Amino acid sequence: MSQQIKKLHILTLNGPNLNMLGKREPAHYGRESLETISENLHALAAKLGVTLTFEQSNHEGVLIDHIQSAPDLAVDGIIINPAAYTHTSIAIRDALLASKIPFIEVHLSNIYAREPFRHKSMVSDIAIGTIAGLGGDSYQLALRGLVTKLHQNNRGD
Ligand code: DQA
Repeated sequence: MSQQIKKLHILTLNGPNLNMLGKREPAHYGRESLETISENLHALAAKLGVTLTFEQSNHEGVLIDHIQSAPDLAVDGIIINPAAYTHTSIAIRDALLASKIPFIEVHLSNIYAREPFRHKSMVSDIAIGTIAGLGGDSYQLALRGLVTKLHQNNRGD
């Protein structure tokens, strides 16, 4: 008997000012727009056979609402670039913990090679992993890594 296998659903969340990518501090963030990053990630998601939702908000509460809704939307994994909230938001950390959804933290820039206040992340220690410093490729690697990890979890590896 053939069994219907549910496609993995990955939610990608982007925090404040990431809508300005391409115009914003290109020395740190490159010239790629968030729209291009989204298009490239959707192309990879199609290749990997997963469903991708891609969101950006400048508002902490909206990001938290997305995280809280994720279990009801049957999201299997989250890729999150909390942007400046990385360094400040206990509320985003708490929402990720409450959701119990595995996630990967991404950054375009290498936050550890920048100002000391960027060296502290509120979410790194509860993430599967962190990918930073590779521009838009950080998202591509995060999606590949997350999908591999979720398949391993489903197989019980
Ligand atoms: C960022 C790094 C953060 O420190 C910064 O506030 C951002 C973007 C990154 O992707 O490199 O807005 O998360």
